[in-house]
Amino acid sequence: MAELSRHAHRKDEHLSLAEKFYHPTATSQFDQLRFVHQGLPEMAYADVDLHTQLGPLTLPVPLMIEAMTGGSPRTGKVNAMLGRMAAATGMPVASGSQSIALKDAQAVSTFTVLRENNPDGLVFANIGAGHSVAQARSAVNMLAADALEIHINAAQELVMPEGDRDFHWLDEIGEIVAALDVPVIVKEVGFGMARETLTQLAGVGVQYVDLGGRGGTNFAQIENFRRPEKELDYLAGWGQSTVESLFEARQVPALTVIATGGVRQPLDAAKALALGASVVGSAGQILHSLIKTDEATTTQMLLDWQTGLKTIMTLLGTRNLAALREKQLLLSPELTAYCQQRGLPK
Ligand SMILES: Cc1cc2nc3c(=O)[nH]c(=O)nc-3n(C[C@H](O)[C@H](O)[C@H](O)COP(=O)(O)O)c2cc1C
Repeated sequence: MAELSRHAHRKDEHLSLAEKFYHPTATSQFDQLRFVHQGLPEMAYADVDLHTQLGPLTLPVPLMIEAMTGGSPRTGKVNAMLGRMAAATGMPVASGSQSIALKDAQAVSTFTVLRENNPDGLVFANIGAGHSVAQARSAVNMLAADALEIHINAAQELVMPEGDRDFHWLDEIGEIVAALDVPVIVKEVGFGMARETLTQLAGVGVQYVDLGGRGGTNFAQIENFRRPEKELDYLAGWGQSTVESLFEARQVPALTVIATGGVRQPLDAAKALALGASVVGSAGQILHSLIKTDEATTTQMLLDWQTGLKTIMTLLGTRNLAALREKQLLLSPELTAYCQQRGLPK
């Protein structure tokens, strides 16, 4: 298979394998956090204001459709649906990695459908770390994007049979941040982030991160399945969960945080927002719904998440995200131990 068609084939495999390994995590680390019920909200459901800020970008709701796909005819159809869903829900949509479209003009239309179907909404471009400033600019221009996501995915690349083996990324990330005039979001893809990584990113000028924590789509598992011998299965539990990553990120308050990874429903999102996230993203759950149901049902699921979040915020007596952040969360012994060992105040 030629290099480019191998690349497109990998995109199809990722879609199929994400669904194969999808499991609606009956238990998740989000369940190790609890809000404290109070009986007197002293406000109305109509008082809740869900809007949030991502630097210069105003989002009507603090939820987004995270980076997934593009590059093959099948994934182009998925992107067309994701673009329409973003337009129908007011949520931003991030493109899957555009690196294939930077090499192959034929792949471009499988990404630009995101913008065509969401002409007035927010669209985020996406490339892997290791690309140049010029390539980053092309990815943004391709989608007339409102922000750029740069994914850092060393764990995925190392398990991927044909993946990269050299990871000198930090300087180039700093150059892209300095050169672009849209927000640049550095994101993980399901292995989470530690305070040290976040501090390194802040040190080269990064202001926005997507924690991309463990607990949902698992690229160690997906890429290991693509290895003939499947010998790296012991890495399936690698990384920090999204909840752990949120505690880590509180130590680097200069960063604006998107929380993605294993978000199942609005209660998980409310907990992530209470821990300091400005936006909560979801990928695998949305893909699963699209595959198992249809676009209309999945769009309705995202609208239900918005009303569900408003319901929880009413119950907590919180009119906006600033008030939600003031709410106490109780931690399980396991999470308490994590925070203690990492020296993170709860
Ligand atoms: C099929 C699939 C493909 C993905 N491709 C990308 C990608 O190209 N770039 C990226 O930054 N993240 C990619 N991701 C990672 C997601 O954006 C997200 O960070 C991760 O799946 C964790 O969120 P989840 O548990 O809600 O799926 C992909 C996820 C899925 C399910």
